[in-house]
Amino acid sequence: GKVCLAYSGGLDTSIILAWLLEQGYEVIAFMANVGQEEDFAAAEKKALAIGANKFVCVDVREKFVTDILFPAVQVNAVYEDVYLLGTSLARPVIAQAQIDVAEKEGCFAVAHGCTGKGNDQIRFELSFYALKPDVKVIAPWRLPEFFNKFAGRKDLLDYAAEKGIPVTQTKAKPWSTDENEAHISYEAGILEDPNTTPPKDMWKLIVDPTDAPDKPQDLSIEFTKGLPTKLTYFCEKSSKEISVTSPLDIFLAASNLARANGVGRIDIVENRYINLKSRGCYEQAPLTVLRKAHLDLEGLTLDKEVRGIRDQFVTPTYSKLLYNGSYFTPECEYIRSMIKPSQETVNGTVRLSLYKGNVIVLGRFSNTENLYDATESSMDELTGFLPTDTTGFIAIQAIRVKKYGEAKRNKNEK
Ligand code: ARG
Ligand code: SIN
Repeated sequence: GKVCLAYSGGLDTSIILAWLLEQGYEVIAFMANVGQEEDFAAAEKKALAIGANKFVCVDVREKFVTDILFPAVQVNAVYEDVYLLGTSLARPVIAQAQIDVAEKEGCFAVAHGCTGKGNDQIRFELSFYALKPDVKVIAPWRLPEFFNKFAGRKDLLDYAAEKGIPVTQTKAKPWSTDENEAHISYEAGILEDPNTTPPKDMWKLIVDPTDAPDKPQDLSIEFTKGLPTKLTYFCEKSSKEISVTSPLDIFLAASNLARANGVGRIDIVENRYINLKSRGCYEQAPLTVLRKAHLDLEGLTLDKEVRGIRDQFVTPTYSKLLYNGSYFTPECEYIRSMIKPSQETVNGTVRLSLYKGNVIVLGRFSNTENLYDATESSMDELTGFLPTDTTGFIAIQAIRVKKYGEAKRNKNEK
């Protein structure tokens, strides 16, 4: 039978490819273009040289932005306060594309190279089963006949030599990465000691904040119903003001500006779904800027109580479901349906400045929304309601507080 393998071009998935062939399967090597820096032609050449029947690369960059990344901005998605979910968000689009290829190519199974200790295995496999319930999943790193054979790196290299798999001469980096247009992750290897400061040359996408330009980069982002619809910035090189409006262009412009100005690096110890703690470093340039701008505009345009419910319930639930690989589930469908109705009034523009790792809000305005009334809110004006109205408001709030205070005092007296 045919197996559709998520192929990365690296040592691990090349070994898995050769091993699957050795088990007698035919293998379709699948790759998704999610905006990672990659030599796709070289990967294709390598997969075919190892013996793959076919190499299929699917470009999902635009779908990733419109279907997943922009809704994540709309709901301010974040895991454990800092991780903007770059890897988690890519998984549903990749899994969808892999299942599409598997179906088209008549594969009975899909395979991946995730380890047995991480989040990704769960994200991919739950997605596979939701999208194609009868699919068979081959996860070699969880099969004794595989992991016992390849207990150490030397076993992998020996097998590579035996199968004629070219091993790139560049010394393997002492950490593992996952890259897409939203971020790059660094985990494992020397990073496993949470007190080891990452070497400066690990960071790949974002300029070191201390090396960033001395001049701030100003930009403005317009939102329509909570979705970025226009990004405008001054381009120093061409000394022109540039505006972009397509989702992918906006995302990439936010990415380039943030990267150049040192914005979006984090270093955390996070809780994996499988209950292990893991140290991770991430470069999440575009989402850092877009999320901050979006949050700011909500201050101006979003109803207080709608925001409260959303913050208490929708944002944390959606973020957790994405982290835990539950994108294709009834509960996630339900939570997703709550994002759009919360965003009807989130229309307007935020002006920002990017400066040496910081995102600074310069101001915001909306031409359509009127929740904020400068006169009504002014400390210098007596309009809207009377000061004596507030006396009543406090009196009513105080009913409960007084009861509480009385009970406390009585208890202390006894
Ligand atoms: N810890 C992050 C997450 O779970 C990043 C995972 C990186 N994945 C990888 N295959 N290298 O989302
Ligand atoms: C892996 O285990 O394959 C990568 C890390 C993760 O999925 O959390």
